[in-house]
Parts: sequence; C-alpha cells; structure tokens
Amino acid sequence: MVSIKDLSFRYSGAERDALSHINLEIPDGEFLGIIGSSGAGKTTLTYAINGVVPHHYPGDFYGAVTVSGLDTVDAGTVALSREVGNVFQDIDGQMVAAVVEDEILFGLENFGVNHDEIEARIRESLEAAGISELRERTLSSLSGGQKQKAAIAAITALRPRIIVLDEPTGELDPQSSRKIFLYLKTLNEKYGITIIIVEQKIMLLCEFAKRLAVMDQGRLVLEGSVGDVLQKGEVLEEAGVNIPRVTTLGMKLRKQELYRGELPRNLREAEIMMRSVGHG
Ligand SMILES: Nc1ncnc2c1ncn2[C@@H]1O[C@H](COP(=O)(O)OP(=O)(O)O)[C@@H](O)[C@H]1O
Ligand SMILES: [Mg+2]
Repeated sequence: MVSIKDLSFRYSGAERDALSHINLEIPDGEFLGIIGSSGAGKTTLTYAINGVVPHHYPGDFYGAVTVSGLDTVDAGTVALSREVGNVFQDIDGQMVAAVVEDEILFGLENFGVNHDEIEARIRESLEAAGISELRERTLSSLSGGQKQKAAIAAITALRPRIIVLDEPTGELDPQSSRKIFLYLKTLNEKYGITIIIVEQKIMLLCEFAKRLAVMDQGRLVLEGSVGDVLQKGEVLEEAGVNIPRVTTLGMKLRKQELYRGELPRNLREAEIMMRSVGHG
C-alpha cells in the first residue's frame, strides 16, 4: 500500500509548489490512473512514490509518503526499488543493455537473484509480456510497442509489488497502446501487482483502470472510481483533462436539460443515453 499524507513539494529554485497538500491512499492490488493537464504535477507525484523526489531532486518536502510501510525519505531509492518498479517517461534512457534478455538479466543480477532462478524469471516475464520470441533481439530493432513491453518485462522480472508508469503509451499507436494495457491488466489481475499509471489516452485508461486521480496545478482535485470521476465533468473540464467525447455530449445534453442520467463513459453507455433522450 502507498500512503501519501499532506504531501507538498517544491523543486529547489521553483516559484511554486509542484505538489500541494496531497492526500492519497493506494491499496494493494489497485489499478490507478493519474490524469491532468501538462504541468499539473503527475510526474512529480510518481517521483514522490518511487523516491526520486526528494532523493534525486532536492527541494522542500513536507508531509509523508510510505510505501509498503517504508517512509520514502528514510528508506532511499535502492530499498524502494524492491517495492516499486518504475517505467519512466524516457524508456530509452532507462534501458541499459543491447539485447532484450540481457536487459532483464541485468536487473535480476543487480538484485542478487539466485542464479538457479534467473532463467525461470526471464522466461516468465517475457511470456507475461507476450514477447518470448523477442528474447534474443536487439532493443534497437524493436518497434515502440515491443520496446515498451521489454522495459515493463524487465521490471516485472524483479517482482515488485507496485509498478509506476509515466505515459508508457505516449509514442504508441492505438493498437499497441491497447496491448500494453492488456499486459498491465494481466499483471494486475494474475500477479496482484498494483498499477499506478499516468496516461493521456483517457478512453483506454477508463476501460482498464479501477480508480482515477485527477491533478490540477499541484493539487489532487478528484479521486474515486472511474465512473464517479467521470460524473464530475465540470471539475475535469476545469482541470483541463480531455474527457471522452461521449461524456462531453452527455454534459451538453444535461445543460440543455434534455438528459438527467449518468454521464456515459463509452459508446455503449452513450447509446443507452441517446435512447433515453429519444424517449424523453
Ligand atoms: N526538475 C524540475 N525543477 C523545477 N521545476 C520542475 C522540475 N520538474 C518539474 N517542475 C515543475 O513542477 C510542476 C509539475 O511538473 P510535472 O510533475 O512534470 O507535471 P506533469 O507531469 O503533470 O506534466 C511544473 O510546474 C513543472 O514546471
Ligand atoms: Mg509528466
């Protein structure tokens, strides 16, 4: 579990807080999506969970963050890396090896995993990612989606309890993005790994995440189940979040008093809404 209590953080030299009075609890097994406009503090929030803040970026840190009972300030990033696996926004900068299997091996050796166990871990993580056949390929020969999967596989091989991903589908087409989410869903449901993901593709996120956290100007303005959060269309609009077009349509119909029901999240729900409008 991740527990964030009244967290405020200001990067050294910055004029305002990147995070301001954040309170958030993320139970084990959660699949949490973090959304918000550019500069809202999403990346900084992930840094506060994996200890990059304040360990790699100095600044004014107030409040407390604990991960599996470890205080992130006391624990340091090495101890935290055993609990939290990170897929940073710049995966090329994160990967160290030339070949897929070596990338996975590197982390396992670094963690001091027993040599008898290494082969099984490599095989299992490649299989969960659906990239067993890419084992001996060079990372530079992979497509964006394949590379992203290899990066996540290297993290899962270390069996962290939590995986934090910062816009992992940023450079991927819709189909590859979907495959990444399906893979994360497997990790979440089959292996019980907590997923914390910053993602711009809101429709995709709403389909897979259980809960959403909405950031705006360093503050956590909304947190709840996907359904509940999408019902707060006005707050989302103010936070500059791109909401599903069917949800916007529902908001317009509500404003015109043509519709009073729940805001739709997907085409199926939009269809139900349109039928009720038709009979309204
Ligand atoms: N290394 C840094 N030094 C100073 N300010 C930073 C640094 N990184 C981010 N910021 C500032 O912190 C705020 C939040 O940034 P960030 O967490 O990257 O937002 P997001 O990921 O939502 O786009 C922004 O105002 C940004 O300019
Ligand atoms: Mg960011």
